[in-house]
Amino acid sequence: MARIRIEGLGKVFGATRAVDDVSLDVADGDFLVLLGPSGCGKTTLLRMIAGLIQPSTGRILVEDRDITYLPPRERDVAMVFQSYALYPHLSVERNIGFPLRAARRPKAEIATRVREVAGQLELDGLLGRRPRELSGGQRQRVALGRALVRDPRAFLMDEPLSNLDAKLRTATRTELTALHRRLGSTFVYVTHDQVEAMTMATRIALLDGGRLEQVGTPTEVYDQPASVFVAGFLGAPPMNLLPATVAGRDGQVVLTAGGVDISLWPGGADSTEVTLGIRPEHLRVLPAGAPAPAARGRLTGTVTGIENLGSEEVGWLGVGTGDAASAAVAVRGPRPLGLAIGDRVTLIVAPEHVHLFSRDSGRRLTWQPDAKVPRPSRPVDLTTTGA
Ligand SMILES: Nc1ncnc2c1ncn2[C@@H]1O[C@H](COP(=O)(O)OP(=O)(O)OP(=O)(O)O)[C@@H](O)[C@H]1O
Ligand SMILES: [Mg+2]
Repeated sequence: MARIRIEGLGKVFGATRAVDDVSLDVADGDFLVLLGPSGCGKTTLLRMIAGLIQPSTGRILVEDRDITYLPPRERDVAMVFQSYALYPHLSVERNIGFPLRAARRPKAEIATRVREVAGQLELDGLLGRRPRELSGGQRQRVALGRALVRDPRAFLMDEPLSNLDAKLRTATRTELTALHRRLGSTFVYVTHDQVEAMTMATRIALLDGGRLEQVGTPTEVYDQPASVFVAGFLGAPPMNLLPATVAGRDGQVVLTAGGVDISLWPGGADSTEVTLGIRPEHLRVLPAGAPAPAARGRLTGTVTGIENLGSEEVGWLGVGTGDAASAAVAVRGPRPLGLAIGDRVTLIVAPEHVHLFSRDSGRRLTWQPDAKVPRPSRPVDLTTTGA
């Protein structure tokens, strides 16, 4: 078990800033997921923690010990690779026991420990097999077993489920979460799959272009995204993001754009250009002819597409004039939504489900009491709980 502290960590490869000034605190027992698009620096960051890549700047501490320049085997962390990296000519038993044999532990201890770990991972019956005689999921568990056998302070995993089919992925996700709970160790887990991140993480660290965008619980990053990037990365479809203007009108703060009219709350405001964000599941289709309920925002547009997701449906609208200048907006809800392509419809939203972001910086905005303009959340909000 271990607390890992990352301070101002950076890695430059030639002209590429793969990891750019990342500071991050991984609490003891955390299941921290490093999430972000391809090339954002997840693997580089994980490999620096493992000691497989030397940082260009910054420090890594485990508990209070600086491990930045320690060789990997002295770090007491175990890495599980995407490709499993099993020895094809060795049995499951010898693959799992490999790190202990390399450390020249006594034979009896190795045998006991391998049986313990095989039991935990339900590999008991497979100890005599070679990797090629195993399924993908079983191989993945052997790789995990090889990490577990050393009883490391922390587990580092780089997309360990990406070689599994969809069904096995879901099952292994549940197994890994249960294993984490049982062991109580610190996990740092890399993925670009937001479902894996949302379901497994105790905390998610979102990276973009080598920079840390936000750290928080799955609920925090989903409900209070710190930036347009985070808002647009999470969710399926992700948050709708539209350019809009905040202004005062008849004693109300209102948000307007082509086809958009949302009364936020009583008060005044200087006219400010913002980015408006609304999750597809927070929009509701107003039945034709029904009056718009009070204290709701309205978005009016033309239906351009309908996607059947099975239990739910996603409708796509061109909000605004209905021509090419319209913004694409998704609405998601139980099927059927009652939409037909070409319909002119109104969507309604509750003001508390409206997110505002700075048009310039893309950072989340919060409204301070008595302010005439929304302001960026305090910097502390970007790495902790949010607005
Ligand atoms: N050894 C290297 N030499 C040069 N550039 C590298 C090297 N390793 C990584 N990079 C670059 O650093 C950036 C971050 O790479 P990294 O592998 O950390 O991304 P990632 O988030 O793990 O992506 P993916 O989801 O595709 O695995 C990329 O632009 C990549 O091209
Ligand atoms: Mg990677």
